[in-house]
Amino acid sequence: MGKKKSKIAMDLQAALDKDPAARNKFEIFFTYGGFKALYRHRFAHWFYNHGMKYFAKLISSGTRRKTGIDIHPAAKIAGGVFIDHGVGVVIGETVEIGTNVLIYQGVTLGGTGKDTGKRHPTIEDNVMISAGAKVLGPIVVGHNSKIGAGSVVLKDVPPNSTVVGVPGRVVKYNDIRVDDIDQKLPDPILEEFARLNKRIAVLEEALNIKSCKYSITMQNEAQAKSDNAIEEEIRDLAEGIKEQKDKLNSGEKGN
Ligand SMILES: CC(C)(COP(=O)(O)OP(=O)(O)OC[C@H]1O[C@@H](n2cnc3c(N)ncnc32)[C@H](O)[C@@H]1OP(=O)(O)O)[C@@H](O)C(=O)NCCC(=O)NCCS
Repeated sequence: MGKKKSKIAMDLQAALDKDPAARNKFEIFFTYGGFKALYRHRFAHWFYNHGMKYFAKLISSGTRRKTGIDIHPAAKIAGGVFIDHGVGVVIGETVEIGTNVLIYQGVTLGGTGKDTGKRHPTIEDNVMISAGAKVLGPIVVGHNSKIGAGSVVLKDVPPNSTVVGVPGRVVKYNDIRVDDIDQKLPDPILEEFARLNKRIAVLEEALNIKSCKYSITMQNEAQAKSDNAIEEEIRDLAEGIKEQKDKLNSGEKGN
């Protein structure tokens, strides 16, 4: 079994893999602010977990001064995370971040101010959070998802999605544009009309009346909206009813 890599080694590898401009680990170690912030966070987190919260805070406030990246020492961050450029990144106390996550400058993983306890987001594995995005509240960003630059995300993000905008909305899911997915919301009134239309169609068939072709439940809205077509339908229906009535009358007279 291979030796387990330390979180710091994983962070170095992540920076090398994710930054096309990165040349080698040596350069990353000594010059990358995002790497430095995470490296120092690993120590701050250790002190925090071992009851030395003051030392932990000293380290994290020093990190903020040096890199412009503010990570609360309690935040749980897995190995293999890369903060690119980094300036202006804020990571709150109850944030949890999975492995292989990419975070750009200006990202806030914060609270909305409305929650207590767990009040910051959980970011699952392989997520990308683009420049300036704000992910707020105790929400979950599912694995393999992307948050677009400048988005403000306030609700859970399903795995394998792309979220953009303010407020953030899913525009892609499993690599398919959400517009292309059938997103019809349930409409009980329309459903009831559809049910009634079906019943009418059965009655029309039983009475041998020309059936209704146009309705608001039909796909072709242009057809459904055509007044002339609807008038024609009504005339046909009236004629059909008159015919049936005449037949019944003549039957009655025959008896
Ligand atoms: C979201 C992002 C990661 C692209 O993800 P993707 O899954 O490949 O999504 P697409 O590019 O196919 O875009 C999907 C839709 O969202 C729109 N969109 C993409 N990013 C957006 C953003 N930040 N804000 C608003 N809309 C956005 C696209 O125009 C597209 O809309 P359309 O389908 O109507 O054409 C990318 O657009 C982004 O924001 N990158 C920023 C990376 C960054 O921070 N770089 C900083 C380097 S210093």
